[in-house]
Order: sequence, then C-alpha cells, then structure tokens
Amino acid sequence: MTGLKIRRATPTDAVPWPLLLDADGPRPEIEKYLQRGEQWLAEQAGEVVGQMVLMETRADTWEIMNIAVAESHKGQGIGTAMLRKAKTLAAQRGAHRLEVGTGNSSLRELAFYQRFGFRIVGVDFDYFVRRWGRATKQNGIPLRDMLRMELWLVSPQ
Ligand SMILES: CC(C)(COP(=O)(O)OP(=O)(O)OC[C@H]1O[C@@H](n2cnc3c(N)ncnc32)[C@H](O)[C@@H]1OP(=O)(O)O)[C@@H](O)C(=O)NCCC(=O)NCCS
Repeated sequence: MTGLKIRRATPTDAVPWPLLLDADGPRPEIEKYLQRGEQWLAEQAGEVVGQMVLMETRADTWEIMNIAVAESHKGQGIGTAMLRKAKTLAAQRGAHRLEVGTGNSSLRELAFYQRFGFRIVGVDFDYFVRRWGRATKQNGIPLRDMLRMELWLVSPQ
C-alpha cells in the first residue's frame, strides 16, 4: 500500500465506471448519487486503484454510497484506508454518524465493515429485489435485503 493518495475527484477525472459498477448498480441509480455526492479517488503510482462516493444524507449523517477497489489491488488495505478517510472527513464536517448499506449475502464486505467498527442497525427488507427486479446470488445466498450499518463518530446520547 505504499504511496497511496486519496483525493477528491475533479470534473476532469474520468468517472471510474468499472469500480462504481463493481459495488452497485444499475448505472442510472449510481448516476443519481454521483451528482449529489462527492467522489474520492485512491491513487497509487498515478493509477486510480479505488474510489468511494460520500453523501450527506441527513443533518448529522454521512453515508458511503459506493466503495470499491480494483480487483488486482483488493486485500491490500486500500479499502480500509478509504474507510479511515471517510471517517475523518465526516467527523471534520461535524457529522455524528457514518453509514453504509450492504447486502445480506455480501459476507466479506460484512466482515470488512464490522472489523472497522460499523454495527448493524437495521434491515431494509427486499431492497435489492426492488432495485434489480429479482434476487441474484452471492456466496450461494439470495441477495435480497440491505443491512444498514452505522459507525458512531461521537458517543450516542
Ligand atoms: C469491499 C472492498 C471495498 C474492500 O477493499 P479492500 O481494499 O479489498 O479491503 P482491505 O484490503 O482494506 O480489507 C480486506 C478485507 O476486505 C474484505 N473483502 C471484501 N471483498 C474482498 C475481495 N474481493 N478481496 C479481498 N478482500 C475483500 C474482506 O473482509 C477482507 O478481509 P480478509 O482478507 O481477511 O478476507 C473491496 O474488496 C471491493 O471493491 N469489493 C467489491 C465492491 C463492493 O462490494 N463494495 C462494497 C459494496 S457494499
């Protein structure tokens, strides 16, 4: 993970669609939050190796709308470095909570977020069935529900 730089995307950067689509879809849904949110790029040796999209969803809450690392660079700590950046940015902007949603069948992602400190706080039942019009499978498990996860940036009252 040497020489990793995480910077805000500028209008002249090419939109890294393969990365965005690795984490979410369909494309028109991504386009909606890409317009409202802010995209951050992880670069190594001048190459974009990861990206995340952050958005303020409520007065005290930021959400990671999309996060992905290039296949050849997964498992090297780049995703965790982006989570650290998201946490720092949200705290700097005065947020109390950082949120993320992931699939019920996304077992490695569930480990990834919980290892960082996210807690499961809710279930959006059949979210992915509504989004895709069908249930796909991951790890042999139908992808149906979105698990809502939260990381508190200050102690809850
Ligand atoms: C999830 C993701 C962003 C993690 O980034 P990363 O740089 O690989 O993560 P780190 O190296 O910091 O941490 C590795 C951990 O991430 C998780 N992980 C999830 N998917 C992984 C994958 N395909 N390869 C490697 N690790 C993965 C595992 O928990 C892994 O820990 P392990 O090696 O003990 O199994 C990345 O794997 C990815 O782009 N996945 C596909 C897109 C996606 O599903 N995004 C999240 C949507 S909710």
